Amino acid sequence: MICCNAATYGTIQQKSFPFRGGRRESQVMVDAQRPQRVRTVWWEEEKVEVVGTQKAQAEPTEQAGVVYLLDQSLLPQEIVYLRLTHEQQVADAIKTLKVRGAPAIGVTAAFGFALALWRLVLEQGASLSSAEIQQHLRSVGTLLTGTRPTAVNLFWAIERMQQCANRAMQEQVTPPQLARALRDEAQMIADEDAAACLQMGQYGANLIADGDTLLTHCKAGALATAGLGTALAPMYVAHEAGKKLHVFVDETRPILQGARLTAWELQQEGIPLTLITDNMVGHFMRRGTISAVFVGADRVAANGDVANKIGTYGVAVLAHAHHIPFYVVAPCSTIDLALPSGEHIPIEQRNPEEVTSVRGTAIAPVGVHAANPAFDVTPHTYVSAIITERGIIRAPYETNLREICLRYSQ
Ligand code: MRU
Repeated sequence: MICCNAATYGTIQQKSFPFRGGRRESQVMVDAQRPQRVRTVWWEEEKVEVVGTQKAQAEPTEQAGVVYLLDQSLLPQEIVYLRLTHEQQVADAIKTLKVRGAPAIGVTAAFGFALALWRLVLEQGASLSSAEIQQHLRSVGTLLTGTRPTAVNLFWAIERMQQCANRAMQEQVTPPQLARALRDEAQMIADEDAAACLQMGQYGANLIADGDTLLTHCKAGALATAGLGTALAPMYVAHEAGKKLHVFVDETRPILQGARLTAWELQQEGIPLTLITDNMVGHFMRRGTISAVFVGADRVAANGDVANKIGTYGVAVLAHAHHIPFYVVAPCSTIDLALPSGEHIPIEQRNPEEVTSVRGTAIAPVGVHAANPAFDVTPHTYVSAIITERGIIRAPYETNLREICLRYSQ
């Protein structure tokens, strides 16, 4: 883990953001090629000094593969980029929430999968056998999918990487060729995610009227994806189109993704926002402040039930009671047609210490029992629409989700 000097990345443009309310000037990287607010995760290749006998063997991947990611556990106080050179570091980064949000987790896992083979080829040379490679990729898949259970993008990305490996191996490619094929597939997953974000932003922006005050829960912006974000993408597109909007941001207990990450991201973009505690939602809805709710998703079941950050269900029920549209913004990689309903979605149970303390400071009596499910399920009956990169889906979700997912996979 290192705190990188942003100036060391030749391909990355830098944009300087002042920390509003703070004295420090900070640097956030943006990619000149893609509409992305902050750079969440990306792949780089760096020259390595290869010594002795390894040199001849390592020829095809003489550049070391490196996964860079923004350490979200330190935001907004510190902006630190992690330089990861081993798949175990990638798995640890996902597990410890240094990278978070369903699409970003999927993209990171794909890069981690590619990195695992790239590293092995560099270390052990091109003479690796197919059996060794297959065994290695199987255990890497298990390592990465074992990090977090709820966001289906993780499993979707690893499955796609595994299929890419299988296809390439059937064509008898060399280990370095396979390593490059996996890198390209991971990059494609990242690029597709960026494109999907933009599409979702454009579809979703049509649901936002000039002057709207929107509510969002957790964090579903650029930090959660390889592009503009999911739930925040429509806000960015609407804002850029000149619509005036204001966003109410739930702090999102227990680990405050809203207060720390969403508030930071919107502030950088200059979108007016009001941070509220989670238990203020009903109050503001009853007063008529909120025009619509936009949230992301970690998994959408075949019937349209939606798993998202804990607290989303409560927001949906309140929105329903106050006749406020409740929109879920999610790419098709978040839709899991294999699960008939939200009842089947595995819910991550996290350390109760996240509830009994805030940022390392205890707030509850020592020894108190606490529960900490990280996600909840919102039944589809509370969902006004699901905004995907392929269009806006409304009930009946069972038929419409299946139709949109399958139509494009043929
Ligand atoms: O536990 P996290 O921080 O990974 O949870 C993130 C969320 O639940 C987001 O709302 C979700 O992934 C939205 S999709 C960008």
